[in-house]
Amino acid sequence: MPLASTEIVAPDVFWVGSIDWSVRVFHGYHTDEGTSYNAYLLMDEDVTLIDTVKQQFSQELVERITQVTSLDSVKYIIMNHAENDHSGALPYLMSLLKNASIVTNKICMEHLLLLYPELNLYPFKIVNNSTPLVLKSHTIQFLQVPMLHWPDSMFSYCPEISTLFSNDGFGQHIACSERFVDQISLQDHLLNLMREYTANILGPFQHPLQTALQHASNLTIHTILTGHGCSWRGGTLQLALAEYDLFSKNAQLKKKLTVMFQSLNGSVKQAAQIIANGTTNQVKIHDLQVSDFTKCALNCYDSEFLAFGSPTVYEQMTPLVEGIIQYLKGLHLIKGRKVILFGSFCWLDKAVNQMKKMVEQAGGVVIAEITFKMAIDNKTNQQILESLKLLV
Ligand code: FEO
Repeated sequence: MPLASTEIVAPDVFWVGSIDWSVRVFHGYHTDEGTSYNAYLLMDEDVTLIDTVKQQFSQELVERITQVTSLDSVKYIIMNHAENDHSGALPYLMSLLKNASIVTNKICMEHLLLLYPELNLYPFKIVNNSTPLVLKSHTIQFLQVPMLHWPDSMFSYCPEISTLFSNDGFGQHIACSERFVDQISLQDHLLNLMREYTANILGPFQHPLQTALQHASNLTIHTILTGHGCSWRGGTLQLALAEYDLFSKNAQLKKKLTVMFQSLNGSVKQAAQIIANGTTNQVKIHDLQVSDFTKCALNCYDSEFLAFGSPTVYEQMTPLVEGIIQYLKGLHLIKGRKVILFGSFCWLDKAVNQMKKMVEQAGGVVIAEITFKMAIDNKTNQQILESLKLLV
C-alpha cells in the first residue's frame, strides 16, 4: 500500500513520521483517537533526522526518508528522548545507515544503550545546552528539559528557521492527516487533547516545565514541531505556550468540581447526584464503573475541587476508588485541591477514613467527610449541601 507522502512542515524540514490510527492504550492511558510518532528530516548538506518512530513503524520511516533523500546521505540522528515511541526504529535504522551518528545527551545515550545494547556498535555524539550541532547551513541548539518526560528529555532548536523540535512537549494524542493545529477547525478540541496529554503524562512536572518555558522565552520561535499529534505555528503557537504557562504555575485551576465514585447499591451514586445538583460550581461526575481514569485526570487537571465517594465493602473502600486516588496521586492531580469525601456502610464505617489517608498523602485538603448507613436521610442530604458551601 503506498504511503501518504512526506510533507514540508518548515523551511528545509520534512515530516517523515508515522500515524498510529489503531492504538487505544498508550502509556497506561486511553488514546481514543490514536496518535502519531513524528520524526523530522532537516535537509542540510549534513542531512539530519530528528527523532524516530515506534518500532512497528520502522519500515514506514525508512520509506518516507527515501522519498526525500538517500539513506547514505543521513549524517546525524538527533534523539531528543529515549522512550520507545520515539526510539523504537533506531536500531533498525542504524543498521541501514552507513554514515550516521546518533546525537543526544549523556543520559539519553545511557538509556538508549540499556534499551538497545546493539547500538553500542554505532558512533554517538554527546551534546548539551552549551554544545550545539553545527551543520553546513543550519545550527541545532539543545535545551535539556529533564522530566519532560524522562530525565533524558531535551528540545532541539534551529535558529535559522526559528523552529523548536519539542518531542513530548506540546504534544497531543491524535491520529490525523493534518500536521498542524491550524489545519483543523476544532482547535479547542486539540487544545483539550493537549491538556489530556499533559494531565496524564506531564502532571508531576510543573516545575521543570516552568524552567523550560523560561529558556524557550529567550528564543524566537515561529514553529513548534511536536513528537505526537499536531504541531503549532502562527496564531496557534500562543495557545500552546499560554496553556503550558498556566499549567506550570498551577493557574489552570478554576472553580470546578470533579466527582469520582463507585456505587454498589445506589446510595453513593445518589450522594454524587445530590452534589452535582447542589453545587454552584462547574461540575463533572465520573461513575468509575463506566468512566476511565484518563478522562478523570483530564477533568482533575483544571479542578480546584474534588470529591471521592465509596461504600465500605469488606472493610475497605472499593478497588476503583482506591485505584483512581493512586493514579491521580502519581500525577500530582490531588495536590493542593480541596476534597469532599463521602461513603456508605452497612456494618463497618471504614471507606471514608481510608480515602482521607490516601488523599492527604497525595497533598489534598479534606474539607468534609460524610458517612451514612445504607441510605441517605434528610440529615445526610443536609450535610452534603452544607459541605458544598465550603467549595470557595
Ligand atoms: Fe512520547 Fe515519553 O514518549
